[in-house]
Amino acid sequence: MTDKKKTLLSLVQPSGDLTIGNYLGAIKNFIKLQDEYDCYIGVADLHSITVPQVAAELRKRSREIVAIYLALGLDPDKVTIFIQSHNPDHLKLYWVLNSISYMGQLSRMTQFKDKQSRADENNNAALFTYPTLMAADILAYNADVVPVGIDQQQHMELARDLAIRFNSRYSETFTVPESIINESTRKIMSLRNPEKKMSKSDEDKNASIFLLDPLNVIRKKIKSAVTDSLNNFDYNDEQIALKNLIDIYLAFTGEDLDQVLAKYKGKGYGEFKADLADIVANDLENFQNKYNEIISDKERLDQILKDGAEKSQRKTRNLLDKVYRKVGFLQL
Ligand code: TYM
Repeated sequence: MTDKKKTLLSLVQPSGDLTIGNYLGAIKNFIKLQDEYDCYIGVADLHSITVPQVAAELRKRSREIVAIYLALGLDPDKVTIFIQSHNPDHLKLYWVLNSISYMGQLSRMTQFKDKQSRADENNNAALFTYPTLMAADILAYNADVVPVGIDQQQHMELARDLAIRFNSRYSETFTVPESIINESTRKIMSLRNPEKKMSKSDEDKNASIFLLDPLNVIRKKIKSAVTDSLNNFDYNDEQIALKNLIDIYLAFTGEDLDQVLAKYKGKGYGEFKADLADIVANDLENFQNKYNEIISDKERLDQILKDGAEKSQRKTRNLLDKVYRKVGFLQL
């Protein structure tokens, strides 16, 4: 019997400041699973240029995400932390997977349709084939599992389809990856509109709690989050704004739902929101202290990324050679 660990991979885009949605929906699972799996956690800078970026800011945010990973608890001695553009194998595989990606399937991607409808002057080809690049990220490592929020589920289906399609066309090559999705934090919603996902790129800054928001701003955002006029402390699909706040509460405290319902039953939402504001602010205060220390040590961060680039290339190199041989590229 071999005790070789299975491979876990996931990336986050440096396209805006990270929110508690990114943390609770995805990054928390990276941290929880870092001992159990051989982990590759990346910063998806290649994906970010599907929308216009300011170059200097993109570079800055890429390093910041690494500091955020560390401050939240990722251990660089256990986990390979890397920048997507530092391993060209992602792009090498992307091209091959493009050749088996169907236009029809790509055009049905809801995130693409969403972004396209919002920015018609920026209908670039990269935006269209973004999910194929994401599939390449995953398949290049033969990842077994990919922790993500539910908004990435359709992209995960494409990654699985492409693995199966390549395997059946060229012979068994890729692992078909599975998503890991937390039921209660699969989609943290906007604090201003509970029908919408909390997002890095929401124009209304009060809709999202950013991990690096000042603590008084975090408190204020939570206290002024929309709820409903039913004045009934309960967890159900008619009260989705409150449900979202309760999900956040449960994720930060680790308490169970019955406990929380019993504690706040019959009380006003104000009391619950004030407690939640304290809980989140205290937790993030701790995180922010660590972050400030880590981000000031640029040399250490860059060393982690140099090591990460090397380890990530070591992981993907052989598989990419194999793929290039199978599709018929001459190798000398
Ligand atoms: P991105 O950068 O939009 O989000 C990073 C991760 O956070 C999750 N997430 C959420 N989860 C719950 N509630 C929310 N409100 C919320 N908002 C974001 C996302 O589902 C994601 O897991 N295409 C990806 C990045 C990527 C990737 C990959 C992921 C590139 N290559 C390979 C996994 C594997 C993206 O844009 O995530």
